[in-house]
Amino acid sequence: MTDTIFVLNGPNLNLLGLREPEIYGSTTLDEIAGMLEDRARDLGVQVDVRQSNHEGHLVDWLHEAQADGVKAVLLNAGAYTHTSIALLDAIRSITTPVIEVHLSDPAKRESFRHHSFVGMGAVKCVQGLGAQSYIVALEAAAAL
Ligand code: DQA
Repeated sequence: MTDTIFVLNGPNLNLLGLREPEIYGSTTLDEIAGMLEDRARDLGVQVDVRQSNHEGHLVDWLHEAQADGVKAVLLNAGAYTHTSIALLDAIRSITTPVIEVHLSDPAKRESFRHHSFVGMGAVKCVQGLGAQSYIVALEAAAAL
């Protein structure tokens, strides 16, 4: 059976393309999903791309990743990256490896973005490459 990789996106990422394009670029989340599907086909995996503005949905989907035996999760938790102990606990509650993803490089932005709760549980972080961050993270996930 083909390995599945969840690609979970948190708050405000539904507005990619419109939202602060000077920071996040002009590629929409649907376009990123298309890019991921193309790359996944080449890598012999499948992706399941989701977005929610609600923290609990992301927690539920992390649990689902474990229950469904998915190979890995790519997680761009948006601002919850910097605030959510619930997401850190969820990542630590499952054995599925989680790769943290960011379009921008939070370390080069405001100081409140410098801490990552997600990063305390993730196996790896890919950031600062715009939409390409997702592709690099997918390649890393497929190689796990
Ligand atoms: C982000 C970076 C976060 O600091 C921010 O809150 C986001 C997007 C990124 O992809 O660069 O919503 O995760």
